[in-house]
Amino acid sequence: MTRPTPAVHDRVLSLPSTDLPAYVYDLDALGAHAAAVRDALPERVELYYAAKANPEPEILTALRPYVDGFEVSSGGELAHVAKAVAGHPLAFGGPGKTPEEITAALERGVERFHVESEHELRVLAESARRVAPARRVAVLPRVNLPVADGSLAGSSLAMGGRPTPFGMDPAQAAPVIRQLAGGTFPHLELLGVHAHLASGLQAAEQIAVAESVVSWATGLGVRLGEVNVGGGMHVDYGDPGRRFDWAAYGAGLARITERHPRLTLRIEPGRALTAYCGWYATEVLDVKLSHGEEFAVVRGGTHHLRTPATKGHDQPFSVLPVDAWPHSWPRPAAQGVAGVAPDRERGRITLAGQLCTPKDVLARRVPAGGLRAGDRVVFALAGAYAWNISHHDFLMHPKPGFHFLRSTA
Ligand SMILES: Cc1ncc(COP(=O)(O)O)c(C=O)c1O
Repeated sequence: MTRPTPAVHDRVLSLPSTDLPAYVYDLDALGAHAAAVRDALPERVELYYAAKANPEPEILTALRPYVDGFEVSSGGELAHVAKAVAGHPLAFGGPGKTPEEITAALERGVERFHVESEHELRVLAESARRVAPARRVAVLPRVNLPVADGSLAGSSLAMGGRPTPFGMDPAQAAPVIRQLAGGTFPHLELLGVHAHLASGLQAAEQIAVAESVVSWATGLGVRLGEVNVGGGMHVDYGDPGRRFDWAAYGAGLARITERHPRLTLRIEPGRALTAYCGWYATEVLDVKLSHGEEFAVVRGGTHHLRTPATKGHDQPFSVLPVDAWPHSWPRPAAQGVAGVAPDRERGRITLAGQLCTPKDVLARRVPAGGLRAGDRVVFALAGAYAWNISHHDFLMHPKPGFHFLRSTA
């Protein structure tokens, strides 16, 4: 859905211009979506939220009733998430964990570690001996598996199935897993195997990945409690109404768990859980014609919402017209550039931000005929990898406001 929910719509129109841009989150919509995702998953499939997608404390708190835990990928995320949702299980993953981060995680009693290399495993074993000698620390080696031809074809961001710095090559992972199972590391316990191979996969591709990972892991002939098949469920920025098919995915995972009655599967989506609950709202400051193309300059830009620049898409949006115009001079408005632009470009406009770079574009040559200075523009799918991946301080513009809407608050 590109259009803001009624609560978001009303909040955006109620804000004075000086309070824009703003991130507006609908926590009721988030809760309903997370509940539907949870319901689509069969028994013995656990749901963790990858906090890197959006770690705002209000988002974590809203998700808490629906998720079994949170995946964190740095010491910073670990400290932040442990505070925001105290007592909820955490999995510590991510490449390049420092010895200090590992020690801090052990001191906090983190439930499980996704281990990225043999060296990291040894650092963890050594720290566990010192910090937590009385318990056995649960580990899941992360493996970078080759997958069936075509399974990652639709991926927007492949982190496995090819040479990458993530996880272990299967040839290295297999002996490490066997050593863990054989008790080589007395302070560590092999809980299972972890794999996050790509982002942006459809349900059928995700099922194929899960099948590959489970069949590799169970084929090792060691006892495993869990296989974590990662996140990476598709979010369609070009067609926001088209959602990842959680029902089909859940059915595919159910077929796997039926074949492996003692195995728990775990997934750790980020984007597909929170993208839909956030909107970045702003207003048009100016509209101009440049060499036959029309541009609207909005308050804010990619320093707040870097997603379209990083992923190379047009961020979907809706226009909320504002009729008031406080000035005595004519209002800048898109003309559709009849007679100037080629026909196919008529009525199209590029939405740019306030940065001094031509890369500061939120949506390029998109249909928004008649857009005027003072109109409000609300960008959808801004609830994941949006504010927290953006370069906030470039040009020192003010930070956006943050609004977390909840009807029961
Ligand atoms: C290890 C790991 N798990 C889960 C995720 C979440 O992926 P997504 O937000 O695409 O679902 C990521 C994203 O980079 C990741 O690296």
